[in-house]
Amino acid sequence: MSLTLLSSPLQGFTDFRFRNAFNHYFGGVDTFYAPYIRFNKKLIIKNSYKLDLQPENNTDLEVIPQIMTNSADEFLFVVDYIQELGYKELNWNLGCPYPMVTNRGMGSGLICDPEKINHILERVHRETDILVSMKMRMGYETPEEILDTFPILDQYPLKNIAIHARIGKQLYKGGVNLEAFETCIANTKHKLYYNGDITTVSKLKDMQLRFPSIDHFMIGRGLIADPFLPQMIKNDTRTYPENRWDIFREFHDTIYQQYDEALSGPTPIKMKMQGFWEYFAQSFSNPQKAFKKIKKANNPRAYQQAVAEILKNG
Ligand SMILES: Cc1cc2nc3c(=O)[nH]c(=O)nc-3n(C[C@H](O)[C@H](O)[C@H](O)COP(=O)(O)O)c2cc1C
Repeated sequence: MSLTLLSSPLQGFTDFRFRNAFNHYFGGVDTFYAPYIRFNKKLIIKNSYKLDLQPENNTDLEVIPQIMTNSADEFLFVVDYIQELGYKELNWNLGCPYPMVTNRGMGSGLICDPEKINHILERVHRETDILVSMKMRMGYETPEEILDTFPILDQYPLKNIAIHARIGKQLYKGGVNLEAFETCIANTKHKLYYNGDITTVSKLKDMQLRFPSIDHFMIGRGLIADPFLPQMIKNDTRTYPENRWDIFREFHDTIYQQYDEALSGPTPIKMKMQGFWEYFAQSFSNPQKAFKKIKKANNPRAYQQAVAEILKNG
């Protein structure tokens, strides 16, 4: 059976620096979704988004840009922008769970408004030839909300709908709701991708068994926590390469160096790497201890020492 693995976007983590280093050292990911573009009143594409999507920064990668909006004008503006850069597809984020976003009727707060979704898709399909794909939760309040969007979504030639099998209200708590995901499969003609809590080869296999019609899986946090995961899934093995920690070290040093160059001052780089270590730490025998070491390191030298100690102990 064919199997496609997609890197689920993580704002603050999976930018072009991470994507390139990941692809170089680990591989296994077929397509990377860029974290969302979002506007703050003015229709201006921020420099950080520009840098992230520039083709020169993504030469060896298959990348799909993403937007988070509830405005057709914003959507069309981004379509123009990404088409100029040569992208053919724009992914629409209807998944973000944070109240700052959902209270404004965006992210998962838009799922309960099929009419607005219809209006935006209608204009986008009438006025452009961009390929649209969706990334959704199953609702904000209940997992049935998505079912009311399917008759609308079925009217458009969407490339696919990736579903994170939670509702917005859950944030990242509680488990994924696989029964509700199954109901989604039965209620749309669109191709669905599964997303949510794939952290091991076994979990991926469980999903394949449970949902035989699904052959596209998106992995977000699991891919940072264990960067070898996509490669191991693809090679159908649970065994890490012998030089696992050497490869990890090279990857780590590559992103560290690049973020250090891009960010100014010791605090931003410390916070950036600490963010990564919240996930990286999960690969080590004592995650709390590993993360504590990183948090305690108050200057670049202490940080490098902490990393060396963690890797030595494996
Ligand atoms: C820190 C963080 C940032 C995220 N940023 C985005 C984003 O920019 N766009 C998006 O569609 N989803 C975003 N997500 C959601 C993930 O892509 C993914 O759907 C979710 O984490 C569930 O998949 P996972 O269990 O494999 O991580 C983010 C999640 C986290 C934890």
